[in-house]
Amino acid sequence: MLGWIGKAGLLFGMMASAMAADGVKSMADESRTVASQLVAQIRGELVKELERTGPIRAITVCKYSVPEITSSLSRQTGMRVTRVSLRARNKSLGEPDVWEQKALLDFEKRVAKGEKVESLELQELVDEPIGRYFRYMKAIPMSAACLPCHGPVNQISEGVRAQLATEYPLDRAYEYQVGQVRGAVSIKKLLSGKD
Ligand code: HEC
Repeated sequence: MLGWIGKAGLLFGMMASAMAADGVKSMADESRTVASQLVAQIRGELVKELERTGPIRAITVCKYSVPEITSSLSRQTGMRVTRVSLRARNKSLGEPDVWEQKALLDFEKRVAKGEKVESLELQELVDEPIGRYFRYMKAIPMSAACLPCHGPVNQISEGVRAQLATEYPLDRAYEYQVGQVRGAVSIKKLLSGKD
């Protein structure tokens, strides 16, 4: 039998874990909202710029606007927001870590089984050497608007190819088909550090 201290402790423990579960749920909800908005906003800006000035100028959207948006989202939410891909164009910003690689491979398997890219997401609590992290990923679909820069090489204009080749010598972000997973928005937050 538990004494009253034990009962109070048990109750407090249950409340604490319910509160923690609540916290994780609200973080997941917020992550989903942030990631969906980001995907829609990037696509919108790209489509606008492609129509207005063409693909060479639109490179600046993926190159400058997106990192600006992700870092301002990170500051606003207190969660690290990035974009990653198994075949990144920009090695320094777009390379996934081990957890992100596993999640992206899992997304590809789910697409092969018939799931829609738009609905793919994953969330997990992950223990790392310095503490426990909340991690979230939402897949970024490859759409027609992405073809001028991420599609089959023989369909990409020479000007764009030349521009990308000088800026990204290690570029692997070609040969994507519409409907594939182009990458993912990845969100990470430290929940509790180790003393
Ligand atoms: C006008 C050319 C252009 C178009 C169109 C374009 N991108 Fe990009 N994309 C780039 C460039 C350039 C980068 C590298 C950005 C950087 O320097 O971080 C990039 C990077 C990315 C990355 C980050 C991972 C990586 O490969 O480095 C993702 C994800 C991405 N693009 C998705 C998309 C999606 C989805 C679309 C269509 C909605 C799209 N892009 C359309 C040029 C383009």
